[in-house]
Amino acid sequence: MRILAIESSCDETAAAVVRDGVTVESNVINTQIELHKLFGGVVPEVASRRHIENISAVVDKAVADAGICLSDVDAVAVTYGPGLVGALLVGVSTAKGLAYGLKKPLIPVHHIKGHICANYLENPEFKPPFICLVASGGHSHIVYVKSYFAYEALARTCDDAAGEAFDKVSRVLGYGYPGGPAIQKAAEHGNPAAIRFPRVNMGVDGFDFSFSGVKTAVLNYIHNAEQKGEQICREDVAASFQEAVVDVLSSHLLDCAGKYGVSRIALAGGVAANLPLRKRVEEKAKAAGMEFSCPRLAYCTDNAAMIGCAAYYAWQNGEMADMSLNAVANLSL
Ligand code: KG4
Ligand code: ZN
Repeated sequence: MRILAIESSCDETAAAVVRDGVTVESNVINTQIELHKLFGGVVPEVASRRHIENISAVVDKAVADAGICLSDVDAVAVTYGPGLVGALLVGVSTAKGLAYGLKKPLIPVHHIKGHICANYLENPEFKPPFICLVASGGHSHIVYVKSYFAYEALARTCDDAAGEAFDKVSRVLGYGYPGGPAIQKAAEHGNPAAIRFPRVNMGVDGFDFSFSGVKTAVLNYIHNAEQKGEQICREDVAASFQEAVVDVLSSHLLDCAGKYGVSRIALAGGVAANLPLRKRVEEKAKAAGMEFSCPRLAYCTDNAAMIGCAAYYAWQNGEMADMSLNAVANLSL
């Protein structure tokens, strides 16, 4: 089963060819990061327009890199939500056109399921059931992956996503967009215990997240220092903020797995590229005797290989779309 997958939910135009779920024959990503850096974050309309300009060349390259012709493809898969609606529409329209023209099935893919399935690309022997933390620029979920088809969200954020908090704190510290890698780099030269920023537990079990408080605490810390005419150490602020986020993300994930009696845990999404987070979760998993999986960095941030993998399982589950498929910005799990 050879799937041509397309991803355009945010600021990466991506296409990949994936065989039987886990063999990546090509994986092309055209990132718009440099374009959005000018504005300090992703501008949705600018992203949509750039996707339109790029998508044909990205799909052509994915097919060429796989060493195949379009007619060798068995199905076309696409992310149809959640994400920026204009950006999603570019991928959805392209995939519909290709599926119609090639007379092949069209497989609709949920973006968060794609992030989770990146773990199968990395470790094909890593199997459900497991509990996965999906943290990106748009989402912070803890998901119970009961099988290749059954997902249940156990916790979510009540306000900002973890990646969004990294991006906003980075902006106020003057490190720019995207914030995650910039904060991680600055934090290497800072003291994570310099400032105690708040750790917030929400919801009945305390597993839900809230990152707007820690973001405001960082802002207040900076403004207070400014008013008193004191110099701040940006590296210490970056390291202490990162420590607060890593602490909350890793402890909620481990506690959730403990409560549900699941001994396999995983990371996914752009924030899973954060090295201190990967290390902390790995250590905690080891101490708790749990199996741990994490995709390589290139499969953490947005890509189409993960969509091709998720599509393979969706197809096995009979999830198919017709030409009425639409983009759904706030698609739930
Ligand atoms: O999954 P992704 O590429 O796009 C969305 O679906 O949102 O995630 C992008 C997010 C951004 O907020 C970015 O700052 C964050 O992931 N990110 C990181 C790191 N690399 C990317 N956050 C923390 N540490 C990193 N190394
Ligand atoms: Zn994503």
